[in-house]
Amino acid sequence: MSDAIEQYLIKNEPYYHPVADEVTLYEAAYSARIPMMLKGPTGCGKTRFVEFMAWKLKKPLITVACNEDMTASDLVGRFLLDAQGTRWQDGPLTTAARYGAICYLDEVVEARQDTTVVIHPVTDSRRILPLEKKGELINAHPDFQLVISYNPGYQSLMKDLKQSTKQRFGALDFNYPDHDTETEIVSHESGIDKAISTKLVSIAERARNLKGHGLDEGISTRMLIYAGNLIAKGVEAHAACRVALVRPITDDPDMRDALDAAVATFF
Ligand SMILES: Nc1ncnc2c1ncn2[C@@H]1O[C@H](COP(=O)(O)OP(=O)(O)OP(=O)(O)O)[C@@H](O)[C@H]1O
Ligand SMILES: [Mg+2]
Repeated sequence: MSDAIEQYLIKNEPYYHPVADEVTLYEAAYSARIPMMLKGPTGCGKTRFVEFMAWKLKKPLITVACNEDMTASDLVGRFLLDAQGTRWQDGPLTTAARYGAICYLDEVVEARQDTTVVIHPVTDSRRILPLEKKGELINAHPDFQLVISYNPGYQSLMKDLKQSTKQRFGALDFNYPDHDTETEIVSHESGIDKAISTKLVSIAERARNLKGHGLDEGISTRMLIYAGNLIAKGVEAHAACRVALVRPITDDPDMRDALDAAVATFF
């Protein structure tokens, strides 16, 4: 394996608790080199899943956090000026395609559509990446795969993937795990016992019912782990829930009261 990507190999097995058949499906998609889209709300395990799969498949993982200021050059590469003159520097997508890594574009809808289209030729049967400025055409390495993440529901009409982008991907839906799985995850990640994590999960389940009725988004698994972390550090449960679960997701006083009441039911 090239030195350029060896540093992106994941050395230790990331903890990932499968929720359904996503591991088998992803493995099949990887072996067919189908680009994949991971859909689901914030904090439900998409990033952890892709880290786990990269580890399992023994492929390096190059992650790019997308934002609206990102340009095609940020993905593909650019000429840099130095004392010797100009020098080409591969962008992360190019490095992954050239040497054979999994490239994970996190929150891809944040990128402008004119940026997103650079992934088109490398995500269809051509598997090529044209570096227009450099005048080079890369045939993607056989191990290369592109994965994107996507939070459904956050899109406005202006900010969504084009159909021609979406239809280049297979998609896996992610959601908050079922009660027992989530309890297991929260205990494992924060080190609190299951008697406490099952309560945290129950609070989250109540709050998730308020999505669309005053809350934009439910309490995520990530937030429950934060609450668990605080409790493990000796913070009293009500205070931990206020800090980690209630205050971050809403500023509305009535909604805060409703969530505090849900906390009080369990602690
Ligand atoms: N199935 C799972 N197995 C193990 N850990 C999980 C699982 N689901 C969630 N987690 C835990 O929840 C945390 C948040 O998950 P992750 O960072 O993968 O969310 P995400 O879906 O990528 O969110 P975002 O859209 O905000 O990037 C992880 O750090 C991990 O500890
Ligand atoms: Mg993520």
